[in-house]
Amino acid sequence: MVDLKRQYCRLKNEIDLAMQTVVESGAFINGPQVKQFADELSRFLACKAVIPCANGTDALQIAMMTCGFKPGDEVIVPAFTYVATVEVIALLGLKPVFIDVNKHDFNLDVLHLQKKLTKKTVGIVAVHLYGQCANMEEINLFAKHHNLLVIEDTAQAIGAEYTFKNGSSSYAGTLGDIGTTSFFPSKNLGCFGDGGAILTNNKPLGVKAKMIANHGQSKKYIHDEVGVNSRLDTLQAALLIVKLKELMNFTERRRKVAYAYDTELSKIQDIIIPHRNINSTHVFHQYTIQVRNGKRDELKLFLEELGIPSMIYYPIPVHLQKAYSTYGYKAGDFPVSESLCEKVLSLPIHTEMTEEVQEYIIENIKAYFN
Ligand SMILES: Cc1ncc(COP(=O)(O)O)c(C=O)c1O
Repeated sequence: MVDLKRQYCRLKNEIDLAMQTVVESGAFINGPQVKQFADELSRFLACKAVIPCANGTDALQIAMMTCGFKPGDEVIVPAFTYVATVEVIALLGLKPVFIDVNKHDFNLDVLHLQKKLTKKTVGIVAVHLYGQCANMEEINLFAKHHNLLVIEDTAQAIGAEYTFKNGSSSYAGTLGDIGTTSFFPSKNLGCFGDGGAILTNNKPLGVKAKMIANHGQSKKYIHDEVGVNSRLDTLQAALLIVKLKELMNFTERRRKVAYAYDTELSKIQDIIIPHRNINSTHVFHQYTIQVRNGKRDELKLFLEELGIPSMIYYPIPVHLQKAYSTYGYKAGDFPVSESLCEKVLSLPIHTEMTEEVQEYIIENIKAYFN
């Protein structure tokens, strides 16, 4: 699905030097590269506060803790997302209130927001799934009207840009009250292990998130909040400094692959190519098609036998996972999410895809349908 080795080889000199510098300094925890990376990402995203942490799941947890939500509070979250988005809500004793997604961009369907609202609702998590922003204009408006906080799960959409009706545009993760991202190796901005960050333009939230990520510590051995230990290590930060400079270029490479898929796969009747929202750019963390008429699993197997990987993100919506059965949801509650789980198929897309490899993938998809 990705080719991290080729990407490394292309950037080898710079990466090796960055890593070697850390190794020789011995500053493996909180070395200067951690702050440098946070500052550079903050500049890139035009975001006041970037707090690096250990992974995208921690980032979500820290963001929820920063929001000051209390056990029993309700947080609206899409049923069609990676489990981490929901997991942290449950872990903090909050109640995940699932909402269906829309069938075009697979993101939270704002038409259902009103009926999810109760006196206990405190927040909405917008997940920018596969690399395209959710309808942040409407989500923010609704949240503002009802005094809710908006958390953006930007694990899959770093670098995506959203344009509001007033013409202003900003990057995913900086559109709501607090955003989170992941630097998991296969992510658009990925490190050589685990990594994540919390993003916010709200200064007090930024200060609190930074504190929570570091044992709730305001000064050395002074703990003002119950916190966690969640750090991005210096080696990862040094690598991410190198990769951040490439992010625009990475995104362009992914887009080129996506357009080539579009051109050829749109000719196949049983395939729906990814929809593009007018007000969001797409950074194609995934290129996810929908396969009609129950052919998805057979196509996947057909490709697998030819050595072509593909993935189902995600085969089961979160409300139907055993771990979340206590919330009382059942099959049929979220028809779009449930139907997507049967149709979606993500194809290989990455920065190192060659035309020959992509041609091989496309030709074999065509062969299956002929
Ligand atoms: C939408 C979404 N949220 C959260 C995460 C969690 O990130 P991490 O694996 O860095 O904890 C992921 C990672 O796959 C993700 O795709």
